[in-house]
Amino acid sequence: MIDFCGIRLEHEVINGSGTFDAIAARRAFGDELLERFPFSAFVSKTVTLEPRQGNPPPRLWELGAGMINSIGLPNKGLRGYLAEDLPKLRELPVALIVNVMGFTREEVAALVRAFGECDEVAALELNLSCPNVKTGLDFGVEPSATAGLVAHVRPLADKPLIVKLTPNASDPAAVAAAAEGAGADAVSLINTLRGMALHPHTRGPWLGGRTGGVSGPAIRPIALAQVAQVASRVRVPIVGMGGVQRGADALDLLEAGATLVAVGTESFREPLCGSRIARELTQLRGKPRLEVPSTVR
Ligand SMILES: Cc1cc2nc3c(=O)[nH]c(=O)nc-3n(C[C@H](O)[C@H](O)[C@H](O)COP(=O)(O)O)c2cc1C
Repeated sequence: MIDFCGIRLEHEVINGSGTFDAIAARRAFGDELLERFPFSAFVSKTVTLEPRQGNPPPRLWELGAGMINSIGLPNKGLRGYLAEDLPKLRELPVALIVNVMGFTREEVAALVRAFGECDEVAALELNLSCPNVKTGLDFGVEPSATAGLVAHVRPLADKPLIVKLTPNASDPAAVAAAAEGAGADAVSLINTLRGMALHPHTRGPWLGGRTGGVSGPAIRPIALAQVAQVASRVRVPIVGMGGVQRGADALDLLEAGATLVAVGTESFREPLCGSRIARELTQLRGKPRLEVPSTVR
């Protein structure tokens, strides 16, 4: 059992927001999903105050080592989520973490207040990869904007608040420290990195959103570096993610300082990979470390 901000979890592997649709998975796998739920907690896709359509297609570009997505955060909005999704997610056998995002402090405050009152919600995750309408910059690229937002919403809910950092900041560790200083109970990283692909024939942008977020194995070394950097600056628990495909990748992030590991892109290939990765992690930990001869050290 793992203690994460006072929440007891079966193992260290959870999903990355937006990469595992528990409601669709239950339709596909039936009640067996509840018996063999692949993650020790379920993180929702980002919920915004108002419903969003998301970006025009195409929304995905496959890479040799992952993908670029420009999904654009389509969702039912707060009211739709509370009415339609929350009653279904209540039936999951694991803790529910709701990921929220707003374009102003007030929007984020309304979301945090509303989900703070829901008994079925164990914790909140605040997605900072969102443009602040006042500055045009993502909230998460600057320590001061992050601190201001976190300090504003922290008192509004009596639940653990995880701040999800953007890797597109010049100093993610400074942003993490600012979030911690303003009252975040945990930080999670990394979100996707901005990337682009060109249409093979027209040579214009392939994605409907022009650019998108790069995820999958391609970003694993960046995730490892940022998790290690953040771990050296904060004392709050860290949820590490970025390109995890196997137990060994999860172990790397844990050894770099993460308390939990989230799996994103790999779930598109293997929806129940969370259980496999948790199992591999246990097996790896049971193994003695390889003795490295002093000549190759
Ligand atoms: C298709 C897709 C949708 C995503 N949607 C969200 C989202 O709604 N909110 C969020 O905070 N992160 C979102 N992410 C980012 C993931 O949660 C994760 O941070 C990122 O993909 C890195 O992990 P991975 O390399 O294992 O995929 C999304 C990623 C993908 C690939």
